[in-house]
Order: sequence, then structure tokens, then C-alpha cells
Amino acid sequence: MRTIAITGATGGLAQEIVKRLSADDQLIVMGRNQQRLEKLYGVRPKTSCLQVDITDDHAIEQAVATIYQQFGQLDVFINNAGYGDFSTYDAYETSQIRQMFEVNTFATMTFSRLIGQHMAEQGHGHIINIASMAGLIASSKSSVYSASKFAVIGFSNALRLELAEKNVFVTTVNPGPIATHFFDTADPSGQYLRSVEKFTLQPEQVAEKIVANIGRSKRELNMPFTLATAHKLYTLFPTISDFLARKVFNYK
Ligand SMILES: NC(=O)c1ccc[n+]([C@@H]2O[C@H](COP(=O)([O-])OP(=O)(O)OC[C@H]3O[C@@H](n4cnc5c(N)ncnc54)[C@H](OP(=O)(O)O)[C@@H]3O)[C@@H](O)[C@H]2O)c1
Repeated sequence: MRTIAITGATGGLAQEIVKRLSADDQLIVMGRNQQRLEKLYGVRPKTSCLQVDITDDHAIEQAVATIYQQFGQLDVFINNAGYGDFSTYDAYETSQIRQMFEVNTFATMTFSRLIGQHMAEQGHGHIINIASMAGLIASSKSSVYSASKFAVIGFSNALRLELAEKNVFVTTVNPGPIATHFFDTADPSGQYLRSVEKFTLQPEQVAEKIVANIGRSKRELNMPFTLATAHKLYTLFPTISDFLARKVFNYK
């Protein structure tokens, strides 16, 4: 039996992850709406629904304290909550930029920092941070989202090094577009999702890969294969990649 907690548990990817976890696993499903959590997971055995405002550091500290009081330990923590907004850079108010970082980046850092310490003390654990292909390859109209996810990847890469000696694994998950309600907020017009249909992943595929790698010392999960390869080329040939991103692959 493992104890596993996940944020953004009402989301499309999280629901598919939870479906694939063992009925023996003790789950803590976190979200910002208790009623939605209860509706989705109320009947699942060994599942505790925890409403948390992840933009509030104090609420995160309390949630972590509650989890350790109730369950004594955590084997796996999945930082999954996040959202995007594919607006041009000049359309953002500063407060909107800060809000996206609160959810996508700072909450991930705070949970990882607090839970990493507990996992280091217990001598095992796995932190899985759902970042994005947008955190590896920036594209136009994703300046703030990309920045928030680049930061998650940078933080996670350092955290992995610091926790390695304590037998705590840190994995970043970097998917390309996934067919979830993410795009209701990111691109309400639906135009982006239509233009990247050939790369679009199903949440089931991504969840399958994440669950298969729980408890494994995996650095990162990059998918689909075409975008994982594009990332390698982007790293090797950044100037050509920028040209192609502007002139050929400008899907937004
Ligand atoms: N879908 C994609 O194309 C894609 C690609 C790469 C990476 N990702 C990442 O994958 C993760 C899961 O996304 P998804 O595709 O499953 O999208 P989703 O279905 O929209 O789920 C996102 C989850 O994050 C929560 N969330 C959104 N804004 C929040 C806020 N301001 N405060 C607290 N919680 C908030 C949502 O809560 P509510 O249900 O209450 O709104 C929901 O539980 C995210 O980190 C996303 O950035 C997604």
C-alpha cells in the first residue's frame, strides 16, 4: 500500500491518473472545490478529499500538516494543478502573471519544499511535477505559461540533485497538448487545439505513462515522441528552431 497525494485532482489528467492507481493505495485528492472532489471521488475507498487554496502558502502548510497528522507519511506527491492562457505578452496585467505563477510555480515549489523534507527524513519518496513541453520549448502566445513551467523544470532539476542522496526521486512530466478542459481557459476559441490535432495526446496515454513510472528514478517524461525530438533539436539548434517556430510551426 502506498500513500499518494495529488493537486488539481478535479482536472482531466488527474482523473485518469487516479483511475490507474491501485485500490490498495491511500489517496489524498486535493482541489479548490470540495463539492467537485466529493462528487468525483466520494465513493472511492481509501480516498480523502482535501480542499486547499494553493495560492495561499499558509493553506498549503496546513494541508501538509493535516496529511502527515492523518496518514503519518507520503510515498508519492503529484503537483498537477495548473492552467494556461495563450494571450500575447502585452495582453497580461501584472496581477495575472503573478496569479499564474502562484498556481503553476510557487505552489509546486512550496509543496515540494515541505514534502521533500518529510520524504528525506523517511528516506524514500517520489515527487512528480507536471510541467509541460511549453517548459522546454517556448512558443509565441505562451510567454507567461512557458515561463511558469520553465521555472518548475529548473526548480525540479535542482531539487532532484539535492534529494538524490536521501532516496527521494523527482520527476518532471512534460507533455505536449492533452485533450482536457485545460483549453477552455488557455484558448477558448479552440483554434490552437484544432491546429495541433496531430500532436494531441489523450489524458489516458499521459496518465498511463506517469503511473507506470511511479516509484522509479526517472528524470523526465517527455511526450509525444515528435515533440520530445523537437526539444532535442531546439536545444542543439536554437536559432534555426526559433525561425521554424515563427514561420512554420506557429500554431497559436
Ligand atoms: N492539457 C494540456 O494540453 C497540458 C499540456 C501540458 C501540461 N499540462 C499540465 O497538466 C496539468 C493538468 O492539466 P489538465 O490538462 O488536466 O487540465 P484541467 O483539466 O484544466 O485540470 C487542471 C487542474 O488544475 C486546477 N486549477 C486550475 N486553475 C487553478 C487555480 N487557479 N487554483 C487552483 N487550482 C487550479 C483545476 O481546478 P478546477 O477543476 O477547480 O478548475 C484542475 O483541477 C496542469 O499543470 C497543466 O499545466 C496540460
